[in-house]
Amino acid sequence: MASRVIPVEPFDLVIFGGTGDLAQRKILPSLFRRFIEGQMPPEARIIGAARSALDDRGYREMVAEAVRAHVSPHRCTEKNLAAFLKTIFYVPVDARGETGWEALKARMRPGVVQAFYFSVGPGLFGDLAQRLKSHAIAGETARIVVEKPFGHDLASARALNATLAAHFREQYIYRIDHYLGKETVQNLMALRFGNMLFEPLWNAQYVDHVQITVAETVGVGGRGSYYDHAGAMRDMVQNHLMQLLCLTAMEPPSKFDPDAVRDEKLKVIRALKHVELPEIVRGQYLAGPDTPSYREDVDNPDSTTESYIALKLEIANWRWNGTPFYLRTGKRLKARLSEIVIQFKEPPHSIFDSPPGQGANELSIRLQPDEGMDLKVTIKEPGPGGMRLIDVPLDMTFAEALGEEVADAPDAYERLIMDVIRGNQTLFMRGDEVEAAWAWTDPIIAEWEARDQRPLGYEPGSTGPEEAAILMHRDGRRWRELKT
Ligand code: BG6
Repeated sequence: MASRVIPVEPFDLVIFGGTGDLAQRKILPSLFRRFIEGQMPPEARIIGAARSALDDRGYREMVAEAVRAHVSPHRCTEKNLAAFLKTIFYVPVDARGETGWEALKARMRPGVVQAFYFSVGPGLFGDLAQRLKSHAIAGETARIVVEKPFGHDLASARALNATLAAHFREQYIYRIDHYLGKETVQNLMALRFGNMLFEPLWNAQYVDHVQITVAETVGVGGRGSYYDHAGAMRDMVQNHLMQLLCLTAMEPPSKFDPDAVRDEKLKVIRALKHVELPEIVRGQYLAGPDTPSYREDVDNPDSTTESYIALKLEIANWRWNGTPFYLRTGKRLKARLSEIVIQFKEPPHSIFDSPPGQGANELSIRLQPDEGMDLKVTIKEPGPGGMRLIDVPLDMTFAEALGEEVADAPDAYERLIMDVIRGNQTLFMRGDEVEAAWAWTDPIIAEWEARDQRPLGYEPGSTGPEEAAILMHRDGRRWRELKT
């Protein structure tokens, strides 16, 4: 496959929090990869801004370290790195004070795309937005990029939206949900709306249920203080799983355009029914032979925060009436696996003497690892011996089918940052979408807090609490095996 890298326009990208973890792990390595691919023009500039008293040289050293640590050595040659570092600058800025802002202004060039990445806690969004305007640094069309968590609940999300809206128009605000930058997530839209095959079957009449799984093997690691205030519902379901759900369930947008797509996603969120507690399983990982428990990880012996959640939800609209969507996500599980599974119904009448379940097609769309899809179909078992049926997968692992280029596909951040520069908001969350997701999440959390519902312990390396399997068994269904 020929690579089609179309360079973006020259830009000045200011990274507030430019010395922070996200900048070093994701943003800068992603920019480096786009640079060596030729997508980031050499006249583009990346300006780190943070409190540390660094100069350009000191920051370049830090960036070089970050890139070496997070980009594979065959790409991170010293020649590539030296060329990339020429695009890097640094300005010490005090987000809460007036220091550094005029120096930052002096660094910005007229006539190029301006983008400001708020890679800082949401508590600083207001300060940054206000100073960018009061010092006349950000022009009318400057793009503002903000990270999750976008609020902790509906009230805080509304407040953040209002803070940003006081200074910038919605069409220039880019709320990142990095799941939307994953290759297969976009492929889900291509699959649904670029083919005739699936869409006629994509509804309650033919789909028995949908499963969305985002399983991780890692624990909460060094992010305990944030995570213990969030939990799996706020950290994963309200945003990443919600986005996967929306793309799976939405109506076809009239075109692939930011508002057309986001209007349809919003309708899905607004149609979600409230989930009652018996339909929710919350878990917390226990200690393993070599791994600390969740409570040890977050240094809170009484924590009642969930590191695992499974729930059953329904969408109250014509397309999905009566079709359950089962969602699960958790940390320290048996495998790292993210997938969406569309379980179709069995044929209405079997002419074969086959056991139940046979003939029910299953389409699974794998986000990670090994992006791809497989479709389970029923065929006759080869050979003599009568009409015995077996289920076989029609497997398509994209890297195998499409070659090296897919295996080496850009990371979610690479794609998303380039979309910011291109001015394409399709893969970013709109303010009303985020608020609608919180409006659905808040009452569920309030209910388990009011009833003091505690998470169930589960063994590290397991599939989560046994009750999650029971949630499905009650409905005569079961989760797909958690294996990679
Ligand atoms: C982040 C969450 O948004 O997504 C983390 O805060 C989680 O808790 C991560 O580990 C998962 O992302 P990925 O891309 O590794 O699946």
